[in-house]
Amino acid sequence: MAPPFIGFMLIPPKIKEEYNKLIIRIRHHDRLYYQLDKPEISDTEYDRLFDRLLQIEKDYPDIIVSDSPSQRVGAKPLTAFKNVTHRIRMLSLQKVISREEFADFDRRVREGLGAGHKIEYTIESKLDGLAVELIYVNGTFTIGSTRGDGTRGEDVTQNLKTIRNIPLILSKKVSSEYPLLEVRGEVIIRRSAFTKLNKKMGEQGLPAFANSRNAAAGSLRQLDSKMTASRPLIFCAYGISATNLSKLATQYEVMQFLKDEDFLISEYLTKVGEVEKIASLFAGLEKIRPDLNYEIDGMVVKVNRFDQQVILGEISRSPRWAVAWKFAAEEAETVVKDIIFSVGRTGVITPVAKLEPVRVSGVIVSNASLHNEDEILSLDIRIGDTVIVRRAGDVIPEIIEVIKEKRSGREKSVSMPGICPSCGTGAVRPQGEAAYRCLNSACPAQLIERLFHFASKEAMDIDGLGGKLAAQLVEQSLVKDPADLYYLTKERLLTLELMGEKKAQNLLTAIESSKRRELPQIIIALGIFGVGETASRTLAETFGEFDRLYKTGYDDLMAVAGIGPTIARSIIDYFTNPGNRAMITKMKKARVAFPVHHIIKKVSSISGKTFVITGTLSLPRDHYKKMIEDAGGKVIGSVSAKTDYLLAGENPGSKFDKANKQSIKILSEKEFSHLLSPSATHIKQKLPE
Ligand code: IVH
Repeated sequence: MAPPFIGFMLIPPKIKEEYNKLIIRIRHHDRLYYQLDKPEISDTEYDRLFDRLLQIEKDYPDIIVSDSPSQRVGAKPLTAFKNVTHRIRMLSLQKVISREEFADFDRRVREGLGAGHKIEYTIESKLDGLAVELIYVNGTFTIGSTRGDGTRGEDVTQNLKTIRNIPLILSKKVSSEYPLLEVRGEVIIRRSAFTKLNKKMGEQGLPAFANSRNAAAGSLRQLDSKMTASRPLIFCAYGISATNLSKLATQYEVMQFLKDEDFLISEYLTKVGEVEKIASLFAGLEKIRPDLNYEIDGMVVKVNRFDQQVILGEISRSPRWAVAWKFAAEEAETVVKDIIFSVGRTGVITPVAKLEPVRVSGVIVSNASLHNEDEILSLDIRIGDTVIVRRAGDVIPEIIEVIKEKRSGREKSVSMPGICPSCGTGAVRPQGEAAYRCLNSACPAQLIERLFHFASKEAMDIDGLGGKLAAQLVEQSLVKDPADLYYLTKERLLTLELMGEKKAQNLLTAIESSKRRELPQIIIALGIFGVGETASRTLAETFGEFDRLYKTGYDDLMAVAGIGPTIARSIIDYFTNPGNRAMITKMKKARVAFPVHHIIKKVSSISGKTFVITGTLSLPRDHYKKMIEDAGGKVIGSVSAKTDYLLAGENPGSKFDKANKQSIKILSEKEFSHLLSPSATHIKQKLPE
């Protein structure tokens, strides 16, 4: 219940207690997710905690503490970033790529220090992200900036505040000992989160990020910090800018200090006395590199003692006391044969480099996306250029460098076409976007992509309608919008090349059965900019009936959890567009069902119960996990007081002993299947309100 007077408000002790506990719980789960990469609760459950926190803060604004997790959701959008001059320049690192080069570095260090110095190094992984500096004044995070050119960077404080694992307040002791503390480190995105993010971008019809570094940089440099808040960024600290820190005399101590203050640091931090060991540490790191959940591109070796660092000093923007020993890159050299422009479903025009085929880490690469105009400009890439392509893990190939020394002078520059390469309509670059777009909804290239999307598995699931057939249908003018699919006849289909009687019949049958798809699938199929699988489901669940969504207004959309201004605007634009309205009418006339959406909620004996799985079971663990989750339960990683059941296979190990000790119910596979048998689970249907 809302209090009577804002500003003169008594906070009931019970609420205060709940609030404090919620903050502790949310921080605990943030730590598990962002810091340790070991989440224990589902996203939905986390959202529930967060929503409750927001509700309390809304009801009792005086309760809000400055480091509440709610302070990380982003602030008002900016029109531009301010510049920040770094008090101490942010240097870059010299690189070495072999044992010999590393030995040279070590020799230079020894010569620089002169006889009588015992040298110790620290080893850290070299994270592949974006360097930032965080300034803490009296223990409070005050200003954060990007590296920029090393001297001046951009003020991205609001954005950094949204990063969940950046401490907003440091311990009391540190606050008084170091009234000014400048922490430096790298903003990154974990691989798993990157894959998810790119999937989401794809669903929304937005271009994918080429790699997690670009994703991290793009996400941090958003003028709207709410956008940054929605991206899974994390911060990993690797140092403090000044070396004259009273109590901290070495890099190793600084790292321990940062760790104690709750900063994430490299898990490979090692102190090494014998140089011979460094090469084997490097080899070890290279070996485990593919198994890490974040991208690294080498190892950083630093002279441990600050007094020695000061003696060594710096040379041309790099310290003499540190070096980046880089992994042999999965890179290859090739030539750009052409640069073409492809048009996607939502009209985004993407430049693509056609390459002389080349093998990069076992795969032949002949195309590389150039993403957008900014990328063309920053690479200064031309047709005929010799370039270096890189393929990192399962990431799409990218061009990382143009070898300008190899230019003959005959290379041809390209610029983004002023018109759509498919339909010739003027291309525009909407404000704040990196992409050019063709805004003609009848554009053949877009239509082919839209048709392909309409027929895809997640949407209307029309078997047999792939990219080639979509192109034929559009090129032969058999289809002008996806609804025309429902008016195709066998005679017309047979006019297409390579189309036989049987194939045509199968296609017509598939089209006919697509009329019975569920509402979320239909919404996906429409291909509304920004509306992918998740948003479609939310919209279907909220509105229940298609016509209610069709007639909805901006404010009602904004009230839906997970729908922000961009998507709300895009939905309204879609449904007010006469072409789209005509298409929907055509679909209805063809008797596409547009069914009411029922929310199916399972109620079972294990709803809300927590499971831990251990030992060898007869099927992969994911199978059991899915069964439990489908029945409303959840699976966590370790046994605790909150665990309801332990599902134990053969050779169960320590979790079994722990569960036993805590008298947690232990289930064999057989007992588990009994618990989940149909008599124990029934399905309840709920109609949307
Ligand atoms: S130390 C002078 N440590 O590499 C010290 N940098 O080329 C410079 N980086 O801009 C930074 N992991 O973005 C340091 N453990 C690490 C690092 C690291 C990644 C990045 C950082 C820096 C670039 C230097």
